[in-house]
Amino acid sequence: MISRAILFCLAVGVCAAGKAGIVRPCYFSDRKCIADNLRANSKCKPVIKGALPNKYTLQNVRFEAPFFNASFIDRTLTIRNHNKCKISEFFFNVPGDTAVLSVDCPYLDLESDRTLIQHTSKKEDSKYNYHIRGEYPLIRLTTNLKHADKLNLCSAFVFGDVTALPIFKVDPLDKPTKNFLSHDLTVLNVFERETFFYRAPYLMRKYINSYICNFGCN
Ligand SMILES: *[C@@H]1O[C@H](CO)[C@@H](O)[C@H](O)[C@H]1NC(C)=O
Repeated sequence: MISRAILFCLAVGVCAAGKAGIVRPCYFSDRKCIADNLRANSKCKPVIKGALPNKYTLQNVRFEAPFFNASFIDRTLTIRNHNKCKISEFFFNVPGDTAVLSVDCPYLDLESDRTLIQHTSKKEDSKYNYHIRGEYPLIRLTTNLKHADKLNLCSAFVFGDVTALPIFKVDPLDKPTKNFLSHDLTVLNVFERETFFYRAPYLMRKYINSYICNFGCN
């Protein structure tokens, strides 16, 4: 049970009144309060970096797009503005024994040299290469941490909501890719949702572990 969270809430005295059993113990800007509440109910450590670079690069990040029968590998993925994310929701549902945490990431900017692997039944995969840079007006990450006395961000599902489509630019790296790439953007929203299904846990963990409380996973 999460009684420790409520005690904390009373002590701090900033609980927002809400529906029965819903307790908001912290202002969303109060990282220390959020960290203290998470710590009281989990094994996360207060050993945090307190910062993320404005821009950093990852190698070989793979994600899947089942609707498109495709896999993707971001061979070099540069992430900008991850440090601009902010906590946008944090509450405990006391009877439901669940904590809900949301993080809003404005202007998230992803740039990558990407390989698209197209799958077709009974055929060898086709591969295409392009450079892409996209800026997302707002990515909203939400996780439900169950059994709120032993919250574990490392094993929790994270929902990545692409609240608006990105502004992006694609440069095919060769002729076959140029011919292959679709100019039909009607299902771009499907692609972005599938993409962020894979990216959301990483983005959430890296942010929370760096700024709030360290659950010890990437
Ligand atoms: C994925 O493959 C299935 C089966 O071949 C096909 O019906 C479907 O149109 C493909 N999806 C896309 C987005 O091309």
